[in-house]
Amino acid sequence: MKEMNTKTNTRVEDILGIKYPIIQAPMNWLTNAEFVTAVSEAGGLGVLGFNAGLLAKDETVSIEEKLRSEIREIRKLTAKPFGMNLYSPQEGMEKDNVYISSTLDVAFEEEVKIFVVVGEVNRAFFKEIKNRGGIIIFRELTPSVVSAKIAEDSGVDIIVATGYDEGGHIPQRQIGTFSIVPAIVDAVDIPVLAAGGINDIRGVRAAFALGAKGVFVGTRFIVSEENPASEEAKQDIINSKSEDLLLVSGLQRSTPTKSAVELAQMYKSGRSTGEVEQEINKRGGLRIGMLDGEVSKGIISVNTAIDTIKEKKTVKGIIDELMADFQ
Ligand SMILES: Cc1cc2nc3c(=O)[nH]c(=O)nc-3n(C[C@H](O)[C@H](O)[C@H](O)COP(=O)(O)O)c2cc1C
Repeated sequence: MKEMNTKTNTRVEDILGIKYPIIQAPMNWLTNAEFVTAVSEAGGLGVLGFNAGLLAKDETVSIEEKLRSEIREIRKLTAKPFGMNLYSPQEGMEKDNVYISSTLDVAFEEEVKIFVVVGEVNRAFFKEIKNRGGIIIFRELTPSVVSAKIAEDSGVDIIVATGYDEGGHIPQRQIGTFSIVPAIVDAVDIPVLAAGGINDIRGVRAAFALGAKGVFVGTRFIVSEENPASEEAKQDIINSKSEDLLLVSGLQRSTPTKSAVELAQMYKSGRSTGEVEQEINKRGGLRIGMLDGEVSKGIISVNTAIDTIKEKKTVKGIIDELMADFQ
């Protein structure tokens, strides 16, 4: 049984060795060494995501070598801590996934210490990372109180409570950030990061009022000078309104681009999430609109709070604004 009064006083900043309790959410295609470095240099935790960097576009280079080169690039640019994204499959499935073990090997060879592990609770996988000396920030795709407790008991260091408000793949239960954060905070003793719809200082203050010990921010960072997203995507986010967002499948929402309107119509008319996701991938996934800048052909995945994103700033400008209470 847990002892009373074990709610941790350990600060996220101390666990991760960073100045401010702000963690940049990994975003498929939308991270690279320069961006991750900018976040870490500004006092947050930069996190390398899937398909990071220019090399990611080169299909002749292996996933492991792309990752290794991006990590080495970060090391040239900063001595500050940074993390990388790992996918955690359902228990029992990890050995079938060569990508997972080989990327983990690269990460440890390159001495990456901090992992944003996203996916399902997987005790064996957590244990492997802990045994190799890693620090785990765990984000369950659809967070639940029961799995948060299991994750805590399996050695996870920090847990992310993600609300339905978030950008990217949305949780499969429609529980908003305001509801999921206190539920997870009450269930575990390790620090909780709030994720989903945090774009300005009001969001940060709300997260801390709900008991979070830090914030996990994705969408806001897309509209930064250093983010590799296309200028077209950044402008589209600034110009779009929360009330115009469309669910293009059960997994993703988008600003109302031409392609998003068609996909949302397909989904509404009864096509399954699996079918629509296949169509999204056929049309170029997140990459075509968000990275390559062909906005009308793609989807622009964002959180539900985009009305509060009014201008592009430097990463440091965003962090200084969000972390003003921690100066
Ligand atoms: C465009 C986009 C791509 C994303 N891709 C990933 C990903 O590859 N891996 C991951 O763990 N999370 C991904 N996410 C989710 C983020 O890590 C994070 O949970 C989310 O951005 C936080 O909510 P916010 O966007 O409201 O700040 C993505 C989010 C966005 C907006």
